[in-house]
Parts: sequence; C-alpha cells; structure tokens
Amino acid sequence: MATLIERDKKAVWHPYTPQKSMPEPIPVVKGEGTYIIDEHGKAYIDAISSWWVTIHGHANTYIAEKIYEQAKTLEQVIFAGFTHEPAVRLAERLLEILPGDFAKIFYSDNGSTAVEVGVKMALQYWWNKGNSKRNKILALNHSYHGDTFGTMSLSNRSVFTLAFQDKLFDVIFTDAPTKDSPLYDGPWDEIACFIYEPMLQGVGSMNMYDATALNKLLQQCHAHEVICIADEVMTGFGRTGKLFSSLYMEEKPDIICLSKGLTGGTMALGVTACTNKIHSAYVDDDRKKTFFHGHSFTANPLACAAALASMDLLLQTDCQNQIAQISSLQQQFVQQLSADARFATRVKNARAIGTIMAFEIESGRDGYLNTIGWEVTRKALEQGVYLRPLGNTVYIMPPYCITTEQLSKVHQVIINILETTA
Ligand SMILES: Cc1ncc(COP(=O)(O)O)c(C=O)c1O
Repeated sequence: MATLIERDKKAVWHPYTPQKSMPEPIPVVKGEGTYIIDEHGKAYIDAISSWWVTIHGHANTYIAEKIYEQAKTLEQVIFAGFTHEPAVRLAERLLEILPGDFAKIFYSDNGSTAVEVGVKMALQYWWNKGNSKRNKILALNHSYHGDTFGTMSLSNRSVFTLAFQDKLFDVIFTDAPTKDSPLYDGPWDEIACFIYEPMLQGVGSMNMYDATALNKLLQQCHAHEVICIADEVMTGFGRTGKLFSSLYMEEKPDIICLSKGLTGGTMALGVTACTNKIHSAYVDDDRKKTFFHGHSFTANPLACAAALASMDLLLQTDCQNQIAQISSLQQQFVQQLSADARFATRVKNARAIGTIMAFEIESGRDGYLNTIGWEVTRKALEQGVYLRPLGNTVYIMPPYCITTEQLSKVHQVIINILETTA
C-alpha cells in the first residue's frame, strides 16, 4: 500500500514549497498542546505555533468542545440577511477589548481577506464621501499583508510577488519609522489610508520598530485625516506582550484587521473592525454606497464559537501570566545569545517583543531564498523542535501553553544548532 507521503506527492501541492528537491512533508497524526506528533510517535515542540496561529497549543479540548457543541446546533448560515448568537456575541466581546474606539465588526475568513476588507473599507469611505482625490495608500517598506492581489500590492515587493509585478497596484512605501528617521513628507491630501503592522513586521524578517516613532506617524496621519489601518493579523491576541500591539501607542487605529490567533488557530476566521466614523459613510439611502464584499464562510458559526472559546482562555489570569513568563524567558535568551562570545560574529540583532524572539544568523547568504533556514529547520527537527526561519532570520513564536522546560529546550536546541552550523 502506498504511504501517506507517496499519496501526498501524487495528489497535493503544498504552500510556499518549491516543487523540486524539497524535503518530504512529515506525516502528522496528532497535535497535543505544544506538540506536533508524527506517525512514528515522535513529538516536536511547535515553536512557531503552526504559522503563528495556535496560541493555546494544539487540540485544546475546551475549544474543541465548544466547536462540537456549535456544530450540533448551527454549522453555517448565509450571513447576509441572517444573524446568529456566536457572531453577535463575538462582535460584542471584541468591541470591549479592541484597542480603540471601534464600533462595528465585519467578518471574513482569513488574514488576507481581513486586510482586503480593511483597505476596501477605507478607500470606499472616501468614494462614498465623494472625495475622488483621496485614493492612494501609504504602507511600510518590508511589510507583509497577505497573498491575494490586493494584499500583495500592499506588501514589500519581493520574491513572493516577482511573477505578478505588473499586476499589482501602486502604493506609496515609506520606511518603518525609527527614533531618528524623518517623518513621511509626501502629498497627504491624496492619501486615503495608511496600513501598518504595529511594532513588529512579521514576514519582513521580524523587524521590531519603535512605538514612539510609530505614534508620531499615526498622529501625523490623523492630523491629515488619513485612515489608519492596523494589521494585527499576527500581533493580535497577546503576541507582543499586550493584548494588542496597538496598545503600545497612544494614537489608535481607525480600522483593525485580525485573524490567526483569533480562533486559537483552530478555525479560519477574519475580522475587520472599524470606528463609527468609517461606518457612518456607508449609512446612506444611495444603494451604491453599500459595502459590496462578503465570503461564503463570513461569520461561520463554528469559527465564531472557537473564537469565543479562545478568548475565554486568553483572558484568564493563567494565560496572561504565561504570556508574561514567556516574554521574560525570551528576553533572557536574547541577553544570553548576545553575551555569548562564541556567537559574536554569527548572531546578529537578537531581539524580543512579548512572546516573540528573533535574530539573524550571519551566514554570508542573506535573503529569503538562502538555505540556512532549511538547515536550521532540519537540525531542530532532529532534536524534537519545529522552527521555520524566514531566510536567515530565526525566530521563536511559541504557543502560550509552552512550559518553562519546553521553552528552555527550544533555546538549547538553537544553541546546539549555532554550535554546529557554519
Ligand atoms: C501581518 C499579516 N497580515 C496578513 C497575513 C495574511 O494572513 P493569511 O495567511 O491568513 O491570509 C499575515 C500572514 O502571515 C500576516 O502576518
């Protein structure tokens, strides 16, 4: 009989995976808390929360039961013309905790669509107001907002977007602000919105940037009536130490995009929240001013039930303590790595924010396509840890249920790899 890998090879095309000379995928049979368990029973610590989503770890029984209960009651219903308790309850609870003066929740089903919705909402805001001049978008260099055409356009032009370069719309890019950098000084009255990943550009090599400088840029945007869109798809739900990364700044966004940790990584769901000011531009007798956007699985009840359960867990003191504990251990590891003379030329820019730590391995092979990352992944897997560097940027983004011992193991495995990788 054919093995799972053989059957996979025949029938499946995996994301972000070269179709020639790639290591075979690992058949996984189970997830359990921090661990991914393969068909031979080998357990790997999931040190990147499976693409940054499983904030409470794998196969969490509390969330699973809530999904099961919901599945027996109402699994899906068209969300235009119908509503249901999980969607309304989730919206109410999100509005209570979101960082800003948010008034409405718009659902979609992944991070890219949450961002698409946010940007379309902002552009149409100006269109609905009859201002055709405000049609440009300001974004940050090294940003990443997703893989659809709209979100590719908003993202750093890179190897990801090479094949589509001439199909992407123009965006004004400026550097992520630093303490010393001059503020953006362009044609403000043409800018409809500014989109940013607050404090931390994830796919853009885990670039951590300054809260005070970002706050100034947001103030500047608001002074020029530019709509600020926080893409917290990755940073939301405790990742950077606070419940939302936008809480590091006084100046708050007008639109916020969420996904990933929203459902504890169990179900696909996207959320875009906006303020009353944005929403009011859509309250009109003119039907053309409707927001014509929706997805089949918008506000899927199972996903909403999962998000409510995930929020229950996240807001518990235990989970908040875990986030604080992980953050402190990650900071200690940054100091340990930075102080280790053996790695003085190998480890660059060790840094951490909240539960996330990152550094670059100096290999003389910079860039996303260099193979040092694969080497790190392979060596970590051999030692029971799953890491997936972005090029030569190694990072740890663990589930909040990781124990001190498990996180110490991840740190030790990284040290072992640094000792053995040229
Ligand atoms: C900041 C940010 N925005 C948007 C996305 C896209 O989310 P998704 O992969 O769910 O489409 C990602 C994914 O990594 C992200 O990190």
